[in-house]
Amino acid sequence: MRIIHSLTEMSSWSNDQAASGFTIGLVPTMGFFHEGHLSLMRAAVDMADKVVVSLFVNPIQFGPNEDLETYPRNFDQDCKLADHQGVDVIFAPHANEMYPDGFQTAVSVESITKYLCGASRPGHFDGVATVLTKLFHVTRADKAVFGEKDYQQLAVIRRMVTDLNFDVEILGHPIVREEDGLALSSRNCYLDKNERATALCLYESLVMTRRDAASGVLDASELSLRIREHILSFSGTGIDYVSFVDQDTLEPVDIVDGKTLLALAVRVNNVRLIDNCLILAEQGIS
Ligand code: PAJ
Repeated sequence: MRIIHSLTEMSSWSNDQAASGFTIGLVPTMGFFHEGHLSLMRAAVDMADKVVVSLFVNPIQFGPNEDLETYPRNFDQDCKLADHQGVDVIFAPHANEMYPDGFQTAVSVESITKYLCGASRPGHFDGVATVLTKLFHVTRADKAVFGEKDYQQLAVIRRMVTDLNFDVEILGHPIVREEDGLALSSRNCYLDKNERATALCLYESLVMTRRDAASGVLDASELSLRIREHILSFSGTGIDYVSFVDQDTLEPVDIVDGKTLLALAVRVNNVRLIDNCLILAEQGIS
């Protein structure tokens, strides 16, 4: 597996692959790999001839009081893990080459970023859309794989790619969970033993709500109330949002139907966790 830091080296590698007739799959990440990341890589290996995993903790998608400085990193271990999945290139650009002095352009996706994490993390999705624009261009990706764990991110990228006619196919991948249901996340390493136990309240809320909805409780405010009560019964929890939204537009809904997504963002002490599922679909929780 090759490790590339420079943007020009990345582009020229990708040009060579394209010239040889190979398709390029990209898995964008911020590193500190877990089984969620690795399953995205394996999916990319299955669907493209050559696979690039970008590893870049993107400073412009973090707010001023967020965890940019302390975001977990383990480059050597990440390279080993990616290599084992059959990845061809780790692309780890330096922040000063991605955003040199004078950089002043942003890609901004409008309505769909008004809800959920877009409302509680202002500017976050501009940072995500901007870095992905650069990564798509530099790697010349034909396909890119994203996890449904960051459901809104996937929706924002699909919108951007459609609106701006990017020649890249966007593929969603189901949420990978621990055996007890906790969605895998690089930030789970911040949780101590008690917080780890508390963190299960997100998954429990999804399961509880799917059961309540299946039994006929379809009023979103009633369902939200039950979730809030459950989450706040654990000490140290805070709620960023509990939202019932349309799976395509992400607009809030009052009554749950087959297209409704439940999205949660919860703080367990200082650790912010997200999770989601479709409420009435058979495959609602992956
Ligand atoms: P990061 O948080 O490292 O996630 C990289 C990819 O892994 C994303 O597509 C995310 O949805 C996916 N992922 C994370 N946990 C997952 C899980 N439990 N199951 C399935 N997929 C999972 O998301 C980012 O990085 C950044 O915002 C990025 C897209 C790289 C832009 O900087």
